[in-house]
Amino acid sequence: MSQKNERDIVVLAIETSCDETAAAIVRNGREVLANVVASQIESHKRFGGVVPEVASRHHVEEITIVIEAALEEANMSLQDVTAIAVTEGPGLVGALLVGVNAAKAVAFASSKPLVPVHHIAGHIYANRIVSEFQFPLLALIVSGGHTELVLMREHGHYEVIGETRDDAAGEAYDKVARVLGMPYPGGPNIDRLAQTGDPLYPLPRIWLEPDSYDFSFSGLKSAVINLVHNMEQRGEQVNEANLAASFQASVVEVLVGKTVNAARNLNVKQVLVAGGVAANQGLRTAMNVAFQAELPNVELIIPPLALCGDNAVMIAAAGTIAYQQGRRAGLDLNANPGLQLL
Ligand code: KG4
Ligand code: ZN
Repeated sequence: MSQKNERDIVVLAIETSCDETAAAIVRNGREVLANVVASQIESHKRFGGVVPEVASRHHVEEITIVIEAALEEANMSLQDVTAIAVTEGPGLVGALLVGVNAAKAVAFASSKPLVPVHHIAGHIYANRIVSEFQFPLLALIVSGGHTELVLMREHGHYEVIGETRDDAAGEAYDKVARVLGMPYPGGPNIDRLAQTGDPLYPLPRIWLEPDSYDFSFSGLKSAVINLVHNMEQRGEQVNEANLAASFQASVVEVLVGKTVNAARNLNVKQVLVAGGVAANQGLRTAMNVAFQAELPNVELIIPPLALCGDNAVMIAAAGTIAYQQGRRAGLDLNANPGLQLL
């Protein structure tokens, strides 16, 4: 084991909210000692999406293995750990329950405190592995279940200033991918295809009311579906790369535009991008270009690809702050699939 300081806070975290079984160990909220992720994507592919029962069963099979692998990777035993953090919600209830129960068992067996973590707080805190937070900061959360702009004035406090009124960004990607006959998860496939095409199909930009920080993606998704159906009816061939590029251009323009507006209006010091769609190359590039050009004094942080999708490093990072702020759960902790970010 590497040098241990008595004041170090070492958090072992568990994440099972959707289709990744993950465990990680992070020191002092920022130093990754272990990061283990067992993905179930292959099992869900043939169903075209995550099947909750299949997800739960995989989590049960993998959970002990990933926790042991994390301890081994960090060259630690449970005695070296300060606290156990776990995703309490939101997510699939049967999937969350596996992680929550495993965390309770580990906390009980090792007499360590149990710290509940919100999944989206985790996605936000993945950015703290890259750079120390400076407040106020603005986080753009773009995942399979969430699209939100969150203002943070201090650690552990989240003010949702805008959110999607219908589909999440990742959900829109997955649905459009399905229309184009691509396998689950659609986001990375559309992203790859988009890079080989040009945004030549006219698709709407859904801005909503001029000053709103809310999002809406269902109209864009319907526009793509209608365009494909109309072309099919006319016997015309859809250029899939160009359609992917057109869809991506619309999503990215609105995400970047609203984030820049909010960052400017709220005078934030940092902007973070969080969630699975933060892996999107089009979004990463456009965010960098826009902030360089329009708000060069605002620090833009985007996590490395490995920390964009679901992982337990982010839960450990958020869990460290929650631990320092005194958040604890008892052994009666339950999964909360509809947990709000507060
Ligand atoms: O954060 P995440 O792993 O799980 C949730 O908390 O929802 O996000 C998963 C979502 C999926 O919808 C997936 O298609 C999307 O993120 N995604 C992407 C990319 N990589 C993952 N969307 C667009 N471009 C990508 N490169
Ligand atoms: Zn997630």
